[in-house]
Amino acid sequence: MDRRAAKRIATNLLRWYDKAKRDLPWRGTRDPYKIWLSEVMLQQTTVSVVEKRFGRFVERFPDLRSLAASTEEEVLAEWSGLGYYSRARSFLRAARMVVAEHGGEVPSSAAAFGALPGVGAYTTGAVLSIAFDLPEPIVDGNVVRVLCRLFALGGDPAKGSLKKKLWVLAKELQAPNRPGDFNQALMELGALVCTPRKPLCAQCPLRGPCLARDQGLVDRFPQARKRPKARSIILAGALIRRGGRILLRQQPPDAKLLRAMWLFPVEEVETLSEAPRRLSQQVSRALGVPADVAPAPLKTISHSITCYRIRFSLFETRIMARSIPSRSAPHLRWVRPQEIKTLPVSSLVQKSLAE
Ligand code: ADE
Repeated sequence: MDRRAAKRIATNLLRWYDKAKRDLPWRGTRDPYKIWLSEVMLQQTTVSVVEKRFGRFVERFPDLRSLAASTEEEVLAEWSGLGYYSRARSFLRAARMVVAEHGGEVPSSAAAFGALPGVGAYTTGAVLSIAFDLPEPIVDGNVVRVLCRLFALGGDPAKGSLKKKLWVLAKELQAPNRPGDFNQALMELGALVCTPRKPLCAQCPLRGPCLARDQGLVDRFPQARKRPKARSIILAGALIRRGGRILLRQQPPDAKLLRAMWLFPVEEVETLSEAPRRLSQQVSRALGVPADVAPAPLKTISHSITCYRIRFSLFETRIMARSIPSRSAPHLRWVRPQEIKTLPVSSLVQKSLAE
């Protein structure tokens, strides 16, 4: 790529960014822990949700050492509602490794930082460029869209030669004196101007050199992604109450979904009509006491998680015992509604208990 053209693109992009950028809570800091956290949150959660939750997380875990000293349960509870919990688990493991192996200082070399759990090429580029001003490129969904349009690049951006080419371009275009701002500017352009649908080309600082626009083919790039289809499943849950508390159960570590999260006792069923019988068997087995499940659900909601579209029906359930042996069953807990926030409870619970 021609150096002069690359420089012009970076200059115009940064000039636009300086005027148009959003005032996001992680943009006022150079603390690598906070920048890393924001990038982990932003990987699968929208900016508007992360904006609301970032400050709360930082208040709860103000630095890397306080995070590393916390239990997984505490961290997952604070992550509740953000989804994709494996991100939070990896982030915690990585924070502990930074304390154990790097004296608590986030490493600024791509090799050391990139070796931490959950840290891939994207996170490495983002943290090293934004926190440490290092000239590392990044390519995320927004960057893919901007670059594929700017250079009219066809093909599958998630695969082989085009994937490699996008990383090379992101590196070649980078402004050497402001790598972090340049990377954020590319993402910001994708988020605010070069949007998936109805891009605002008239306001775009790169409309001059944009080849897709020149060809009138902006909506052809990038090539549409083939999404694996989410599977639809029916899940029945048991609402078991006692004196203002409800019984929650921690999903086993090898569960098919919502692994290690706190949830009603649940059972996957083929049809809603078999739910009361199947759920009753499941609850009896899980608690070791007979269970009486209502014939019709109290409530049915839809809830989507990574690979599943869930129709969830909640059934009022009575158990025939004065108490469950909670001491010998650490994965069962009687929880008061206000305690739900202190456990990593699936947002499916709040959703199905809401009026
Ligand atoms: N998406 C992910 N990280 C981002 C950042 N730092 N700025 C804008 N959008 C982003």
